[in-house]
Amino acid sequence: MTATKPFLRALAGETITPPPFWLMRQAGRYLPEYRATRTQAGSFLDLCYNPELAVEVTLQPLRRYGFDAAILFSDILVVPDGLGQGVAFKEGEGPVLTPIRSARDLDGLDISGLHDRMAPVYATVAGLSKAIPATTALIGFSGAPWTVATYMIEGGGSKDFSQAKKLMWAEPETFARLMELLIEATGQYLIRQIDAGAEAIQIFDTWAGALPETEFRKWVIEPARRLVERIHSERPGIPVIGFPRGAGILYEAYVTETKVDGVSLDSSVPLDWAARVLQPKCTVQGNLDPILLVAGGDALDAGIDRVLNALGKGPFIFNLGHGIIPPTPPENVARLTQRVKAFKG
Ligand code: CP3
Repeated sequence: MTATKPFLRALAGETITPPPFWLMRQAGRYLPEYRATRTQAGSFLDLCYNPELAVEVTLQPLRRYGFDAAILFSDILVVPDGLGQGVAFKEGEGPVLTPIRSARDLDGLDISGLHDRMAPVYATVAGLSKAIPATTALIGFSGAPWTVATYMIEGGGSKDFSQAKKLMWAEPETFARLMELLIEATGQYLIRQIDAGAEAIQIFDTWAGALPETEFRKWVIEPARRLVERIHSERPGIPVIGFPRGAGILYEAYVTETKVDGVSLDSSVPLDWAARVLQPKCTVQGNLDPILLVAGGDALDAGIDRVLNALGKGPFIFNLGHGIIPPTPPENVARLTQRVKAFKG
């Protein structure tokens, strides 16, 4: 079947004017209605595992802004939770996990309970595929193995990833075993999302840019290549967007070697380089600096125009270079929406 939804047509390589658009973290704390539903749900993980409320918060930004894609409301850290590692989101602190630092810690994880634990996530995807407008596409997602591994090893967020890198270099067999577990779990998890109704997949490798070239090739490119290959062969026709944030010039190798259908660009990627080097190989997505959405005004308008003019002449999906942050005024998102929709090419 040929895609009719603009977002899916763009991922199939069509140039669409104005381009389809959605925003990373489009559901979240910058919206008062999100904060209300979040209070009703209890903890953040309770919200992720409550299909009715997770569907509701996914739909909230679509009602306001009419985005071309909905992204499943969940988190990349539900996978470690489903593998049996304790995960909690502490108010004002971010995620906290019991760190995996040895082969023995790793023995405590297993994949056998993953799909039971993820059943509410699959139910959210199924609910969304019925609830979203006919022209809106549904994106499923996961974290990439490296980024998820950093949270699992560090026990939460980190500035320098010293524990994760230390395990990678000092105990390469243990680290490789963790990565194999994550590649397999992530592959199964994404296939289940597709079977529940996800029409495209995005793989978030938020901390890809922390790795030197050799390790980037081994632990960012190679796992993504295997995940893309698995999805393309087991569920043909489902496009995959990769987001190797901070990859710099390695974005080119990432695109060529993983065979992603689309690549999400962080805000540091030069637009003329992306248009010349990446866009002939795959659809590009991005890359407005999310802080421009906080700043607003002329700077926001000029930033939007720069991205549209540079990338809007080829296969392109407008987005940010990273997620919306909580202090973003919702009216600035409305301003962005109008400006993108008014683009004439
Ligand atoms: O709208 C969407 O984009 C879908 C939902 C989504 C969330 N997290 C919701 C969320 C998606 C796609 C993610 C991905 C995610 N989660 C990433 C990769 C993308 C990125 O932003 O880099 C990462 C690294 C995480 C891990 C994570 N989740 C952290 C570090 C935090 C705490 C920091 C913060 O912003 O609070 C979260 C929590 C989280 N995930 C929130 C939301 C809406 C805020 C939780 C709350 O409501 O209290």
